[in-house]
Amino acid sequence: MRLILLNGSPRQGSTHKILSDIQAKLTAPGVEIELMSLAGKKVAPCNACDYCKRQKTNCCVHDDMEELFPQFVSADAFVVASPVYVMGPTPQLSAFFSRLRPVHHVYPGMLRNKISGSIAVGGTRNGGQELTVSILNNYLLTRGLIVVGSEIGNYHGGKIWSQDSPDRAVKDTIGLETAYGVVRRVIEIAKYFSK
Ligand SMILES: Cc1cc2nc3c(=O)[nH]c(=O)nc-3n(C[C@H](O)[C@H](O)[C@H](O)COP(=O)(O)O)c2cc1C
Repeated sequence: MRLILLNGSPRQGSTHKILSDIQAKLTAPGVEIELMSLAGKKVAPCNACDYCKRQKTNCCVHDDMEELFPQFVSADAFVVASPVYVMGPTPQLSAFFSRLRPVHHVYPGMLRNKISGSIAVGGTRNGGQELTVSILNNYLLTRGLIVVGSEIGNYHGGKIWSQDSPDRAVKDTIGLETAYGVVRRVIEIAKYFSK
């Protein structure tokens, strides 16, 4: 099973640190954990030209989405992580999800029923992590994925208080447990359905 941890930050900062630690430390037999990053990538938002819808072919905008699209859609399970920007996900991640439109018009069902979850990393303790996780979950639902959360403490996804620094982010032990919790839960349910 291939699990993608997608970093929606435009830089390799706190979100990258959290995801790379999870990749290094989480024991998950039979699961290949792959980091994917929007840092340094040029992904324009969907401009609603309807080219993919009318022509039934890939997007006519030529940018880094040409490489990111096949990498993403070919995975089996997903955890999407975003820094909190103005109490929501980054515009980079919003653009990325808008550009997944060919999933419906060219490759219907390509992501349907794959398992997913979300993590938000905010500089302020209560800076919008819950709202960001909710929006990320909506992005995933919109693309046909099944979203999972878990029990008390984690709820609908991982929530980290970074205090604007990777070194401080990894000291948020309560938040880290929620981030590891959502990754473990995605793996658990993905394995359950692949039996
Ligand atoms: C444009 C911008 C908007 C931000 N808005 C918020 C916010 O609304 N709430 C919050 O808690 N942190 C906010 N932050 C802080 C980031 O969420 C925080 O520094 C985060 O750890 C960055 O993750 P990264 O290092 O992976 O990029 C904002 C940062 C930027 C650059």
